[in-house]
Amino acid sequence: MTQPKFLIIAIDGGAAAGKSSTSRGLSERFHLMHVDTGSFYRATTLKLLEAGIAPTTDYALVAGLQSLQLDTAISGNNASITINGWVPDESIRSQKVNDNVSHYAALPELRAFLLDYQRSQVQVARDNGFNGLVMEGRDIGSVIFPDANLRLFLHADPEKRAMRRAKEGITDSIEKRDRIDSTRKAAPLQYPDGAIFLDTSELSLEEVIENVSKIVEPLRFA
Ligand code: CDP
Repeated sequence: MTQPKFLIIAIDGGAAAGKSSTSRGLSERFHLMHVDTGSFYRATTLKLLEAGIAPTTDYALVAGLQSLQLDTAISGNNASITINGWVPDESIRSQKVNDNVSHYAALPELRAFLLDYQRSQVQVARDNGFNGLVMEGRDIGSVIFPDANLRLFLHADPEKRAMRRAKEGITDSIEKRDRIDSTRKAAPLQYPDGAIFLDTSELSLEEVIENVSKIVEPLRFA
């Protein structure tokens, strides 16, 4: 049988737009490595907060970033960032991180620090025998992988997104994060030209995965 083509799928969208569940579903269906870049920003935010480093461009930030050694741990289809050997846990989804992450993510130094690491995940996926990777975030289709095989932008109405978070029992400042993420200078959250726009407001997770799978399927042996 012919080997499927190695695929890079970029999924962007606002907070609670359904990126993680969709990415997870696709990763299982097509044996892709799932990379959640939001967790990278959350984990580095937590480390910088713990070190008492403020979200401002200064020497402390540069030195703080230099002290973080990044690596990857694979668990099932998921590729997790590790920082100085630490594997991020639920603490990166705390209210404190929710409240702070967008301020740190707006710093060009932090974005530059994570850029090569994010791109290096392609090799990690190849080395671990995956058929490709599905990477979710805010700037994957615009900055990290503008030439991805598929670039998807997920949207959902604010009420639907708030409902999803409430169901998960999470207090989150979704709209505030979206506002900061969309208006920052460095790699803002935006619909990248030529990406596929999918409104998930009225769709179940299964329907979203089904719709996207129909787009992915023909790409595999193209
Ligand atoms: O899962 P959720 O939609 O809550 O957000 P997330 O994907 O975990 O991302 C958390 C935060 O990280 C976002 O609000 C952005 O500020 C930042 N982020 C980013 O700037 N660029 C990315 N590629 C991914 C996340």
